[in-house]
Amino acid sequence: MPENETTAPSLENLLHETRAFPPSPAFAAQANAQPELYEAAEADRLEFWAQQARELVTWSTPFTQTLDWSGAPVAKWFADGKLNAAYNAVDRHVEAGLGDRVALHFEGEPGDTRTVTYADLQQEVSRAANALTSLGVEKGDRVVIYLPMLVESVVAMLACARIGAPHSVVFGGFSADALRSRIADAEAKLVVTADGGYRRGAPSALKPAVDEAIAPKDGEPATTVEHVLVVRRTGQDVAWTEGRDVWWHEALEAADTFHEPVAVDAEHPLFILYTSGTTGKPKGILHTTGGYLTQAAYTHKNVFDLKAETDVYWCTADIGWVTGHTYVVYGPLTNGATQVLYEGTPDTPHRGRWWELVEKYKVSILYTAPTAIRTCMKWGEDIPAGFDLSSLRVLGSVGEPINPEAWMWYRRVIGGDTAPIVDTWWQTETGAIMISPLPGVTATKPGSAQVALPGIVADVVDDEAHSVPDGGGGYLVLSEPWPAMLRGIWGDLQRFKDTYWSRFEGLYFAGDGAKKDEDGDIWLLGRVDDVMNVSGHRLSTTEIESALVSHDIVAEAAVVGANDETTGQAVVAFVILRGEHADRGATPEGAAQVQEELRAHVAKEIGPIAKPRRILVVAELPKTRSGKIMRRLLRDVAENRTVGDATTLADSSVMDLIAAGLSSAKPGSED
Ligand code: WT7
Repeated sequence: MPENETTAPSLENLLHETRAFPPSPAFAAQANAQPELYEAAEADRLEFWAQQARELVTWSTPFTQTLDWSGAPVAKWFADGKLNAAYNAVDRHVEAGLGDRVALHFEGEPGDTRTVTYADLQQEVSRAANALTSLGVEKGDRVVIYLPMLVESVVAMLACARIGAPHSVVFGGFSADALRSRIADAEAKLVVTADGGYRRGAPSALKPAVDEAIAPKDGEPATTVEHVLVVRRTGQDVAWTEGRDVWWHEALEAADTFHEPVAVDAEHPLFILYTSGTTGKPKGILHTTGGYLTQAAYTHKNVFDLKAETDVYWCTADIGWVTGHTYVVYGPLTNGATQVLYEGTPDTPHRGRWWELVEKYKVSILYTAPTAIRTCMKWGEDIPAGFDLSSLRVLGSVGEPINPEAWMWYRRVIGGDTAPIVDTWWQTETGAIMISPLPGVTATKPGSAQVALPGIVADVVDDEAHSVPDGGGGYLVLSEPWPAMLRGIWGDLQRFKDTYWSRFEGLYFAGDGAKKDEDGDIWLLGRVDDVMNVSGHRLSTTEIESALVSHDIVAEAAVVGANDETTGQAVVAFVILRGEHADRGATPEGAAQVQEELRAHVAKEIGPIAKPRRILVVAELPKTRSGKIMRRLLRDVAENRTVGDATTLADSSVMDLIAAGLSSAKPGSED
C-alpha cells in the first residue's frame, strides 16, 4: 500500500465545546509573547524567522540568506551561516557569567539526586566530546544513543553535536531487533549505552540488547559499530568485549575538560530520529542544525513563557522521543533554562511521585502527555491534592488530542484554575511546536491546539486540497516551509517525497484529520492513516502486523488502534493461525496461550510498548474484493460496537464468523 493512502477523518463526533479561558491581565502583562508577534510574522514571515535566528541563537558565521526553497521539498534555512548547537546550549551561558545556574536537577528513580550547573555541563560535554574523538568518531559519523533518562544522556547528545556527529537516540524500551535495524540503517560507528536503568523500583538491563544488536545474526553481518561506550548506572554485571567496549566514566576521566566546539554549516545534520510510518520500516527523520535550533528556542520561549532566571521547567518526555530532543535538550538549554530531569515512572515508589517533585523543585512549567493526565485522573485527585503545586504557572500537553474532560481536570487540579494550558501540536517531522495557543495572548479552549504559531502557516483542506471553511473538517496541512522541518528521510529521498508531499500538490501532509471551529480554531482529530497513537507514542499497524507474521504459527495478521480511555488508543490484533496450529485458537485456554506467546514475540521484535492489548484468533479477515483489509470493521469489533456497513466485503459472512468466535476472548495482562 502506498504510504500516503488515507481514509476520510471521522467527523461524526464533532466536538461541541464552547468554553474559553482568556488570559488573566496579570499573566498577559508579563508574557514573553505579545499579540504583535503574529503581526510581525504576518508582515514579513522570512524576516521574522531571520530575526528569531539572530536573537535566540549565537552564530560563529552570521547567515545572509534566510530560506532557499529551490530544492523543494528539501529546504535550506540560514544556509550560509555556521554555528554549534552544543555551544549554544551550554558554553555561551557560561561565557555570559551564568556558569553557576543549575541546568539540570536530576532525580533518579531510587531517589538519588544530582545537581548540574551550566559550568558542570560545559566540562562534562567537553570531556565527552574529547572521548568520542579519541574513539575515532569524526564530524559526520553517526552515533546511536540507547540510554535511560540520565544526565549522561543529555551530555552524550550534546557531545555529538559538539563534534558535528549526528546522533540517533533509540528509546531504551525498544528491543535488540529494533535497535539493530536502526543502527544498521544509520550505519552508526559508536553506541552509547548503560549497564541498565531503574524502572518501577528495580534495575533493568540495557547492555545485553546492544551486544545482541551489533553481533552477526542469521547470515546478516555484524553492524558498523566499532565501540560501545557504557555508562555505569546500576552496577550490575555486564558482559564485556575487550577492545570494543569502553566505560564512559573511564573515558571521560582520561579526557581533557577543554574542547573547542566544531562550527558546522546551518544545514549540517544534527540528528536522525526513527519513527513509525505506515509501512513496516521505521523512517529515519533527519534534522539539521540552524533552523531546528532556532525554532526549538523560539517555541520554548514563547509557548512556555520561559523566564530563564526564575522558572523551573520540567518536560516529562523521554529523550528517546522527539519531545525529549526539542523540549528537554535543545530548546530549554539553548534558552538557559533550569530544569528537572527524572529517570523513572510516575508511580514509583508511590502515585504522588511527580507531584512530590513539583513541590520539591518548585516546578513552574510542566509539559506532559494527555495519557499521563488521564492516568492521574484515574488515580484520584486526592493524590496531587497532597502536595503544594502552587509554583506551577504554565501547563503543556503534547502527543495526542487531549479530551476536554482531561484538559479541565489538568487546569483545575494541577493548575489551580489559573495556569494557562498550552495544547501543542507537532510531530517528529516538524521538529518543534507548530500549532498551539500562546499563553498570555490566546483565550484557550479545552481540547483544541487552536492556532498556528507566528511564522507557521497551517490549514485544513478537503480531498481536493481546497481550504475548508470555518466549521468544516478535513486534513491538516502545512502550507509554507518552516525552520525546524525535517530535511528528509535518512537515505531515502523518494520516500520523503511520497510520504509527505504527494497527497496534496505543494503542501506538507501531516497524516492528521482536523476541523476548524466557527472561530477558525483548529481541533486535531487523530491520524487518518495506518499510524496508531498509544500513550502519545507513534506505532505503525503494518510494523506490528509484520512482527506478528514473522512468528511461525501466524499466517495472517491485521492490527487496529481501538479507542482507549487512558492511552488514547490500544493495539488490538486479529490473527489467522497456520493450518497445523489452527486448533490452538479453538479453546479459551489455547487462545490465551497464543495471545501471550504472540505478545512476547512482538515485544521481542519491536519492544514492550508495541505489545497488542488483545490478540484475537480468527478464521478469516474482512477484505474488500481487491484484497484490502477493512480495518474499520475490525475497529468496530475491537471497540465492542455494532459492526458497520460490510457490503463491500468479498465475503460478507466473515464478520459474523469473527463476532461469533470472539465471545470467549480475554484481554492480555496489563504491564
Ligand atoms: C503525531 C506525531 C510531537 C511530539 C510527540 C509525538 C499526534 C501530537 C498532538 C496534539 C493532537 C497530537 C498527531 C501527530 N499529536 N501532538 N497536541 N493534539 N494530536 O510525536 O510521535 O511524531 O507523533 O502525534 O497525530 O501527527 P510523533
